[in-house]
Amino acid sequence: MGAPRVLLLGAPGAGKGTQSRRLVDEFDIEHVTTGDALRANKDMETEYGTPREYMDAGDLVPDPVVNEIVEAALSDAEGFVLDGYPRNESQTEYLDDITDLDAVLYLEVAEAELVERITGRRVCEDCGANYHVEFNPPEEPGVCDECGGDLYQRDDDTEEVARDRIDTYRENTEPVVEYFREKGTLVEIDGEQTPEEVWEDVRAAVADRTDP
Ligand code: AP5
Repeated sequence: MGAPRVLLLGAPGAGKGTQSRRLVDEFDIEHVTTGDALRANKDMETEYGTPREYMDAGDLVPDPVVNEIVEAALSDAEGFVLDGYPRNESQTEYLDDITDLDAVLYLEVAEAELVERITGRRVCEDCGANYHVEFNPPEEPGVCDECGGDLYQRDDDTEEVARDRIDTYRENTEPVVEYFREKGTLVEIDGEQTPEEVWEDVRAAVADRTDP
């Protein structure tokens, strides 16, 4: 069996980035994340304006911009974990046309917990590792355990923008979750467990669906 093709769904702050990094290490697959790709190109001029205009408001960046990012990334990847895409029905149709999936996982977390996770998140500016000031603090405040890089807070991790992002998720992305649930391919995982416990469930679900 080839490298797994995994879709990881979940609200903002549900733990998609945290679990994706583990999947990448465990299964030797690519991390395809529209959020990171857009953050690296926030001021890129497109015919729709810059990604920053949408991201700082908690809105979705227009579909043609993200579809192009994903199609280019998937064309080079045998196995992958998709994190942050698709986020609406039209992106879901686009994805359907360009690849098949082996596993579709959904990390379920209540809204109150999401806001707390997002506002306490700190990210390494060098390697992208994720921390939380309370739930997963680095050994030395402000410094990445993995590479020694500086930690920063994302521009969109304020409480106000976090709530806008969650509203955008409810309106646009919950129908995507529903689509895979109705299709019978969705694996629902309790995302409120510790990161280790969530990882056990994620790893087992992917292994089950890709082992020969
Ligand atoms: P994106 O970067 O994709 O952000 P998101 O979906 O809002 O997700 P997050 O990165 O906030 O959370 P996560 O689920 O990865 O959680 P994490 O593991 O970090 O998108 C940003 C913006 O880009 C969007 O708003 C939009 O504008 C644009 N965009 C992106 N994709 C797009 C698309 N397809 N179409 C259009 N626009 C798009 O964990 C969060 C925190 O919780 C961390 O601090 C972590 O340490 C902690 N944590 C993780 N797991 C646990 C646990 N089990 N228990 C306790 N704490 C935990």
